Amino acid sequence: MRFDVITLFPDMFNAIKDEGVIARAIKKSHLSIHTWQLRDFSNNKYKNIDDKPYGGGAGMVMQVKPIRDCIHKIKQSNPKTKVIYISPQGQPLKHKLAKELSTLGSITLLCGRYEGVDERIIEHDIDMEVSIGDYVISGGELAAMVLIDTISRQIPNVLSNADSLNDSFANNLLDHPHYTRPEVLDNQAVPEVLLSGHQANIDTWRKEQSIKKTQEKRKDLLALMQRK
Ligand code: ADE
Repeated sequence: MRFDVITLFPDMFNAIKDEGVIARAIKKSHLSIHTWQLRDFSNNKYKNIDDKPYGGGAGMVMQVKPIRDCIHKIKQSNPKTKVIYISPQGQPLKHKLAKELSTLGSITLLCGRYEGVDERIIEHDIDMEVSIGDYVISGGELAAMVLIDTISRQIPNVLSNADSLNDSFANNLLDHPHYTRPEVLDNQAVPEVLLSGHQANIDTWRKEQSIKKTQEKRKDLLALMQRK
């Protein structure tokens, strides 16, 4: 998978390029992340890419031309890339969407700042809008990193242990509890079944715990599962 990211803050992406699961996947060539500084596509010497909104009001709006030129440049070598604008107005990011996107070869992520982009970009230049939740953060970069991480985890061989894919939401259930050494600490003991060595019993216990946790914390997910 190739990610191209259009941003005013390319250095923010070093956080995931340099450490952790994504860094390892890049080293093993399972994915690559290419950042594009939007200011390089500005048409003035001050490298501005924003302007005042027509109709007045607070804040600035990202202009059409630099974004359109940048997307055009990316598409020259990558014509089939899926262009996603990360914004609070987008389709909510869920496990299922991440899994679908993980099957693509190339994704371009447009990160908004200020009041967002000129609407003509949304109408004409992007394939889809995605939101990471019903709240507003200060720009699309953190949201883009969330998207890159969650998509990348679904790409074969990115996670070293395939079992790690059985984490929360894979089947609309929350994850079961996890324990490690010591067996007892401050009178808190690890559940006996986990020490039994009886794998079938352990699997049953984990499934029950998953359902119990989901019942307690996210009844809405259980309803989704029952509808299937
Ligand atoms: N930019 C600002 N807030 C956002 C959100 N919730 N999701 C995606 N992009 C955003």
